[in-house]
Amino acid sequence: MDITRKQQTPGLVCTCNDLYAEEIAEITAMGETEYKEIFALLDTQPRCGECVSHVNQFVSASDGKTTL
Ligand code: FES
Repeated sequence: MDITRKQQTPGLVCTCNDLYAEEIAEITAMGETEYKEIFALLDTQPRCGECVSHVNQFVSASDGKTTL
């Protein structure tokens, strides 16, 4: 994770894959709750894994929990 880039880029959730809040929210709104599956549905996969807690915020907002 590039924490400086994340702090400077509003809405950026995953710096490894350039995934933004809108993309993550769209997938979790469809009911997906598993971290790796959220990435798979966005045609990518987690790399460093450090964005899991941020992704989990979107899952929680959709009333679910992520699993690794
Ligand atoms: S920030 Fe590294 S996998 Fe998301």
